[in-house]
Amino acid sequence: MLTEYGKGNVYPFHMPGHKRQLTGFGDPWQLDITEIDGFDNLHHATGILALLQQRAARLFGSRQSFLLVGGSTCGLLAAVSACLPAKGRLLMSRNCHKSVYHALEIRQITPVYLLPEMCGCGIMGSLPPEAVEQALAEDPRISAVLVVSPTYDGVVSDIASIASIAHAHGVPLIVDEAHGAHFPFSRQFPDSAVSCGADVVVQSLHKTLPAFTQTALLHLNSELVFENDIRRFLDIYQTSSPSYLLMASVDCCLTLLSQEGSRRFEALRENLDRFYRETQKLSRLECFRPEDTFAWDDSKLLLSGRRLGLSGPGLSQLLRQDYGLELEMAAGHYALALCSLMDRPEGFLRLSNALFDVERRLSLNPEPVLADMISSSTLTLPRQVYSIADAMVQPGAAVPLTDAAGCVSREYLYLYPPGIPLLVPGEYIDGALLAHILALREQELELNGLSDMTNQRINIVNF
Ligand SMILES: Cc1ncc(COP(=O)(O)O)c(C=O)c1O
Repeated sequence: MLTEYGKGNVYPFHMPGHKRQLTGFGDPWQLDITEIDGFDNLHHATGILALLQQRAARLFGSRQSFLLVGGSTCGLLAAVSACLPAKGRLLMSRNCHKSVYHALEIRQITPVYLLPEMCGCGIMGSLPPEAVEQALAEDPRISAVLVVSPTYDGVVSDIASIASIAHAHGVPLIVDEAHGAHFPFSRQFPDSAVSCGADVVVQSLHKTLPAFTQTALLHLNSELVFENDIRRFLDIYQTSSPSYLLMASVDCCLTLLSQEGSRRFEALRENLDRFYRETQKLSRLECFRPEDTFAWDDSKLLLSGRRLGLSGPGLSQLLRQDYGLELEMAAGHYALALCSLMDRPEGFLRLSNALFDVERRLSLNPEPVLADMISSSTLTLPRQVYSIADAMVQPGAAVPLTDAAGCVSREYLYLYPPGIPLLVPGEYIDGALLAHILALREQELELNGLSDMTNQRINIVNF
């Protein structure tokens, strides 16, 4: 399947950011070694891997950078573990990736949640700094803050203000910048969290830059967090056999950024500007921009067919089947196409031509607007009855999901992608939340996390 997909004519508006455009990497079988003499050890780097990490720190403007081969996932696990004592309190935005919740579970950390604002267009917006200030002022036991910026959709929060607030309260700020590794390399993007003064920043190289899947960086930029703690937890959460293929791809990525980054990002800007200009002429399909956000990364194309009665997954399926365009994500009323410095003008042209064609076809043959095109971004804060770790050790029972109102969950439930929990173990399922979950299931969106992989039954705490 991989070979066929690679040879086919499908244009990737999805991760990884290399967009399968790079050649000349060499025969992977020849390059795949382990820590043989002279090749350094990621967990005790003193040679070529230390040099690679120093080069990354210089390029990304950080004091120190750690190479990750387990994605931002292992970086976030390590960052949370290193910044807080076990059983500590973390102020975090509710739209965090599941890896942050897993860190809470492993370290028995209590979350204090903040809900990001919703944009008028029905996607999650920025996190207001005032909410961070208020929460820190109200709860002096909080020992770190964690914010996702940018979100999957490219929405950025005011990291400089949030960092100042956290520092005024003497606590470090961790930023999950998994989707923003490209920010430091062009002024067309929002400022990077490192340049805004965040203490620990985790970025997936593979999502928006040309590096192999799983590669990421953790930047440590602070005196509030101990380097040895970061190292210790990375040693725990990362494999003891890190792949030299993955690490070599980071080396290639840094070289490409140094040598060709400016030229390629300028070309991306031209392509994006042309695409936005062209698609403004669409009358019923939309390439929309979120309003009321602190900042937004417009290399994420947000496409909506709502006015034609087309859901995000419906639009995405049409683009895949009829035009050979594979998008990154689709849920609710919109679909997301991810662009990188490796995209070619041909891809943008194919996408805008396809959108005009879809609009023409569906206008000839209109379908009724889906009345219940629910917002997949809606997040609530269910009442927390048990901590995640405590819920897991309670006696459980599996009940039909439809009967779960009034129960306490023993499981996570995510909409995937992006892997933000709708429900966390220990949380109370009220009628409104259950109705939302059932509506998502009804729309056949991908719900993950339940041990019953058919999503018919849920494990609950059996009082
Ligand atoms: C916001 C966010 N943070 C972290 C991650 C985890 O990144 P990785 O896939 O590099 O482990 C993801 C993955 O999609 C994500 O969306």
